[in-house]
Amino acid sequence: MAISNTNSSQTMQQQIEKRLAIQHLRSVTASLTTTAGSDVVKGLTQTPKTLPPRYFYDDKGSELFEQICELPEYYVTRTETAILQECAREIAEITGKCEFVELGSGSSTKSRILLNAYQNLGLPLRYLPIDVSAGMLENSAKQLLFDYPTLEISALAGTYELALQQLPKKQLPSRMIAFIGSTLGNLNPQECEIFFLQITQALHSEEYFLLGIDLQKPKHILEAAYNDSQGVTAAFNLNMLEHINWLYNGNFDTTQFEHFAFYNENENQIEMHLRSLQQQTVKLNALNLIINFARDETIMTEISRKFDIATIKQQLSTHDLITQKVWTDPNNWFGLLLCQLQ
Ligand code: AVJ
Repeated sequence: MAISNTNSSQTMQQQIEKRLAIQHLRSVTASLTTTAGSDVVKGLTQTPKTLPPRYFYDDKGSELFEQICELPEYYVTRTETAILQECAREIAEITGKCEFVELGSGSSTKSRILLNAYQNLGLPLRYLPIDVSAGMLENSAKQLLFDYPTLEISALAGTYELALQQLPKKQLPSRMIAFIGSTLGNLNPQECEIFFLQITQALHSEEYFLLGIDLQKPKHILEAAYNDSQGVTAAFNLNMLEHINWLYNGNFDTTQFEHFAFYNENENQIEMHLRSLQQQTVKLNALNLIINFARDETIMTEISRKFDIATIKQQLSTHDLITQKVWTDPNNWFGLLLCQLQ
């Protein structure tokens, strides 16, 4: 009994591994570690201090983000999921046979809605998830391969920039790059322009770009979503310091900082900061960096921009990304845009 169980589970394992390729972009690109450290040095030596939001997502941070998505105040994920459930079939009908590339795939929960739609139409399933958290990527890929017997996965562990430059050769007639979850909101207008350029360079003419964006809405709804009553967002924010400590042999004391988030109505963005509770000095040994904090000084860890559909459509069109269809929820809180490169 025991032996035959082992054999059948090994067979299953082998079947899954045949349909999975994982490329670790960080390890193949020797200079990235240096590049990554220099963005931390740059951010912490300027005034006001900043850190790039991608440092949220170590394995712990990715898990905390999954918890945020379940919070009653955090309407974002729930709203986008409902929209996807409504329109996934239509998306699959429009794109036809198409590889599904996803930037920031995380646990791939929403991706399943799209995979189901392609599967239901009898279309081939090829998924290229990209995420900075290699642990998350591997676990969710294995689970997906188990659940979708015809699915093939080519996963890329690394940053969007690197992944977009190194996408494997296309195996289906078309491709759709999905950037859902409103991660675009983390990019300032200048970074956003560069990002759209990278997207158009990664796509061929007539291929698709699926974009999910959080929309402008009353301040109290937004501020509640980033100051949840259970303190999960605070833990997520503070975890960035633990991640930096681990990466760069640092001594940030997370009990000496607090979470601070508000909606900046002039810029239409949530700003998340970590506020120093006292005057203090922090060392990042691996970067040879000593940072002084005044009491109440903050590090800005994230902007989360809130968009309006007309403006974003216009901006996309300047990059030859033509919006084919827009879906929203009944409250108009979230927008999903399917664009095609001209
Ligand atoms: C993953 C960037 C879309 O901006 O809402 C959630 C990250 N930060 N709570 C967002 C986040 C705090 C999230 N994005």
